[in-house]
Amino acid sequence: MLTQAPKGTRDMLPDEAYLWHMLEDKMRELAALWGYREIRTPVFEHTELFLRGVGSTTDIVTKEMYTFKDKGDRSITLKPEGTAGAVRAFVEAHMYAEPLPAKVYYLAAPIFRYENPQAGRLREHHQFGMECFGGKDPAVEAELINLLMTLLGSLGLSNLTVHINSIGCKCCRPRFGEALRAYLGDRLQDMCEDCQARFEKNPLRILDCKQEKCKAIVKGAPSILDSLCDDCKAHFESLQKLLSAQGIPFSVDPTIVRGLDYYTRTVFEVIMQTGREGLALCGGGRYDNLVEELGGPDIPAAGFGLGLERILLELKNQGLVPEKPTLTDVYVANIGEERRTDAFVFAQKLRALKVRTESDLCGRSLKAQFKYADKLGAQYVVLVGGEEFERGAIKLRDLQTREECEYPAVDAAAQIAAKLSEGKEA
Ligand code: HAM
Repeated sequence: MLTQAPKGTRDMLPDEAYLWHMLEDKMRELAALWGYREIRTPVFEHTELFLRGVGSTTDIVTKEMYTFKDKGDRSITLKPEGTAGAVRAFVEAHMYAEPLPAKVYYLAAPIFRYENPQAGRLREHHQFGMECFGGKDPAVEAELINLLMTLLGSLGLSNLTVHINSIGCKCCRPRFGEALRAYLGDRLQDMCEDCQARFEKNPLRILDCKQEKCKAIVKGAPSILDSLCDDCKAHFESLQKLLSAQGIPFSVDPTIVRGLDYYTRTVFEVIMQTGREGLALCGGGRYDNLVEELGGPDIPAAGFGLGLERILLELKNQGLVPEKPTLTDVYVANIGEERRTDAFVFAQKLRALKVRTESDLCGRSLKAQFKYADKLGAQYVVLVGGEEFERGAIKLRDLQTREECEYPAVDAAAQIAAKLSEGKEA
């Protein structure tokens, strides 16, 4: 137990950190280009926020939340998704009083769901999410989807299609509920207990059931697209035109309903085509009523969440993981114990000039230092000591070509730094 992480969690070990940094750098860069600003909200919130926000009949709320009482007897829940917290912060900070739309993003936010762990399904995962408050035009979703696909494309991921759907609004969704109930009525006894309970309270959730017997029945159900009101229909058509105008491939998929209750009109997912079937890389949509439902003014909004672990999985599946960077550029070796301090000081000089540098921290012999420098992937070894050092010089050896050159000790650090930056520019 002591040396085992809890089931469904993963350590991000140093060997993988460069991949997370690469993702985070790209995400920040694109967010800045599109005018989204970072928001960080607490890892836990009052449970009530998710009961109201995510929906009390969703799987997330009924089965997957990490909920506990704190020492003050308050019911607290670890974030099972990022949107509700972002909306709470938007309302609490009166961000709606600023010019709208307010565009925010969160980076590698930890999310907790008590799920059955398997590849791509964890109990703690991390999301990059974007939320745009204050725009009711379909251009909002078109912009979000464009950003999302630009991001996935910049990682080299291909063969990804956005699946889009509209699940209507308060006016037309009840009409669909009726059509669905009429279809499911005498098939209900063959469905799972959860679906039987959903039938009255939230029939749309039945479309999202993962049980094979329910999926088979749902296949023949009426399409929600046939029940949309004129406004929702026009919104969905405009979105499709905007996506086409941006050259973004998409497919209209009436089976996408999403596992959270706050969505209105547009919902979308990017599904992984390799690896496990049915796992989404990303999910999102419009949620025009949530801000008001959580105590704010009537402000429409839309957003998406992208699972970072699933992106990493897909990069591996598609053979797109970038090469691991070396750990240092220069290793400063001391020739003999008596030169350790000189080498240590010289290493600091190089670092001050922004050269990635390592020196001996373990009292290694010169031979062992060379071996270690090689393991680190150093390009050069600087030799401090020996006869050159007595003459006031410092030697640099290229570990690949074995070429050596000498520099006067007084400006050796500056010359080595210049040589390295020339090499990098070339
Ligand atoms: P979601 O579809 O539940 O949406 O999650 C978004 C993404 O998080 C998924 O597409 C997937 O990549 C990743 N994900 C979800 N669950 C797991 C898991 N157990 N293990 C690993 N990765 C997972 C939301 O959470 C919404 N808040 C998205 C949103 C933002 N909608 C509007 N704004």
